This record gives sequence, structure tokens and C-alpha cells, in this order.
Amino acid sequence: MPRVLAIESSCDETACAVVDDRTVRSSVVRTQIDIHARFGGVVPELASRHHLGAVSAVVDEALARAECPLDALDAVAVTEGPGLVGALLVGVQFARGLALATGLPLFGVHHLEGHLFSACLRDDRSDPAPLQPHVALLVSGGHTELVAVAGLGRYQLLGATRDDAAGEAYDKVAKLLGLGYPGGPIIDRLAADGDPNAIAFPRGMADKHNLEFSFSGLKTAVLVHIEQRGLPDSVAGLADLCASFQAAVVEVLVQKCRRAVQRSGLQRLHIVGGVAANRGLREAAAAAATADGFTLVVPPVRYCGDNAAMIAAAAAARIAAGCTPSLEVHTSLAIDDARQQLS
Ligand code: KG4
Ligand code: ZN
Repeated sequence: MPRVLAIESSCDETACAVVDDRTVRSSVVRTQIDIHARFGGVVPELASRHHLGAVSAVVDEALARAECPLDALDAVAVTEGPGLVGALLVGVQFARGLALATGLPLFGVHHLEGHLFSACLRDDRSDPAPLQPHVALLVSGGHTELVAVAGLGRYQLLGATRDDAAGEAYDKVAKLLGLGYPGGPIIDRLAADGDPNAIAFPRGMADKHNLEFSFSGLKTAVLVHIEQRGLPDSVAGLADLCASFQAAVVEVLVQKCRRAVQRSGLQRLHIVGGVAANRGLREAAAAAATADGFTLVVPPVRYCGDNAAMIAAAAAARIAAGCTPSLEVHTSLAIDDARQQLS
């Protein structure tokens, strides 16, 4: 059972975790949300600088909480990409230094492969979940894609967004509404009290038979609605707008998931990434799983957003599979390229 320390710094969270195989011993996430909120989005230069200031303390805290001395580790892992290059390099250089000082092997992990493993994490030793064949909906601020996962490193991209990611649409619409950053959790909260049928927003690529997504038309529809009617002038009006927007996103996501599960013949759906925290999506996906009879796995909310435990678990799986350590920083390689590192 490999014990791995991993560092994640691809965007605006500085994270470190210690994981035994897929069991989390500690997971520390220091978010930079307060720093970027006033700009309405992540400022890459600020992200790098704040990772640099935080990484050492975050690693110390993860080791202390796990009650794990450095010599009890089997490997160091780090997110190698995709992400903001300056932000990634902070984690990568720190991990390189740690590996050099300790003599431990260093594994670079594809960020999206990490998200896939977030569905396998356990906080105690009960029921460690292997990576079973499944369809994954990877849905975050930077990605929205459906992937058929046959096993470790065996990933087939079934469809992706043609423009904005779902989380990006949430963030942009929240900005239009002057609600703050990140928009997803705020809109999700407001949507709970609104009428999802109040405004008929478009369902992007809904009747196409493919498994692709498009969210930029929806964002424009919200903009046009605001230009024509003005910003909502009541709490109920704002809740209705948020609920209607969320319904449009969730309906398309769930519809394509059902289609992907059906076509792939895989009776299992995992929803991972920051947007997997969305209450509307979790409820609609659970209803679809019951109706269609497939197994649904959605990680606890604390493992939906960026964290290092998922990176450590992915590295542990690679160690268990006999992979040789490798690390190559990249900003945009797709998930199916992660398989090339398997040999
Ligand atoms: O996976 P993640 O932490 O970082 C990326 O790899 O992008 O995802 C962040 C994204 C943001 O766009 C945020 O608005 C969105 O996830 N998000 C949500 C919710 N919580 C976070 N979107 C919808 N509903 C939520 N509850
Ligand atoms: Zn992510």
C-alpha cells in the first residue's frame, strides 16, 4: 500500500495531502479565493505568488496532521498539468526539491486523472474503492468532458465542451449578476429558492446526438435577458434567474451523461470536478441513476474541488501498477494523453 505525499497548485488552491493508497490520512487545501474575488476571476500572476508563500506551510501541515515523518513516505507526487503554468511550477519545483532531499521517487499526475480518483477516496479504511470501469463526467472551471474509463490510463474522450466549461459559465453569469467569485456555489445556493421554469433559457446542443456541450449561448442568453429586463430587483427575481440558469446547465449535463452511459454499456457514472458539488446536479443525476438503473458515484463535496488527495491516489495507483516515475509540465494536454505515461 504505497504512502504518497502529493502537492496540487494548478489554479487557485495550494493543497497537500498524505494518502495510503486511496485512504486519506490528511488533506490540506488553502484557497486563494479571497485574493482573486475582487478581480472576478483568477489572476495568474497573483496565484503563483501566493502559492509560493503558502506551499511550505501547507506541506508541513499535511505531514503533521497525518502524523507522518518524511521517511515513512514511499513517493512524492505533484500535479504536472494542465493548469496555469506559473502556478503549476511552484508545486512542481517544491516537489522536485522534496524528492531530491529525501531520495523519494517523484510522480507527475495529470490534473484530470486526479479528479477521476477523487471518486475513489476514503477517509477511513472501510471499503477502499478501486477504479472500476465507468463513464466520468469531468466538470470544473476549466473542463467539461465525458470520458469512458476502462481502467488506469485507459481513457477515451467521448465528448467535451466546444466553448465554455460549465463552471466557467457559472462564474461568468455570477459576474454579470454582480454576485462575486466563484459563482458556482453562490448561484447554487440562490437557485434553491427559485423557480427553474421562470425563464426559458436555451439548452446548448440538447437535441444533437453527440456528446458535446456548449455553454456560451446560455451565457449570452443571460446577458441579453439582463440587457432587456435589467438586473433582478428582488430576491425572488434573482432566485428565479439563478434557478432557471442552473436548470439549463443541469438538464444538458444529465441528459448527456445518460446518453453516454447508455451508449458505452458501462453501468456506472462518476461525476467529478468542482461543479460536482452542485446540489441541483447531484439531485438530478441521482434521479437519472434510479430511473435508468445505473450506479452513480459523486465524491463528498470536500473532494469535488481541487485537492491533493486525489493527486496522491492517482500516483499510488500508478505505483501499484508498476509505472516508472515521470514528470513533464504541460498546460493543456487532454486526459487521453495521460495514458501515454503508463508504460
Ligand atoms: O475543479 P475545480 O475546483 O477547479 C478547476 O479545476 O477548475 O472547479 C472550480 C469550479 C468553479 O468554476 C466553481 O464556480 C465551480 O467549480 N463550482 C460550482 C459549485 N462549486 C464550485 N459550480 C456549481 N455549483 C457549485 N456548488
Ligand atoms: Zn480541478
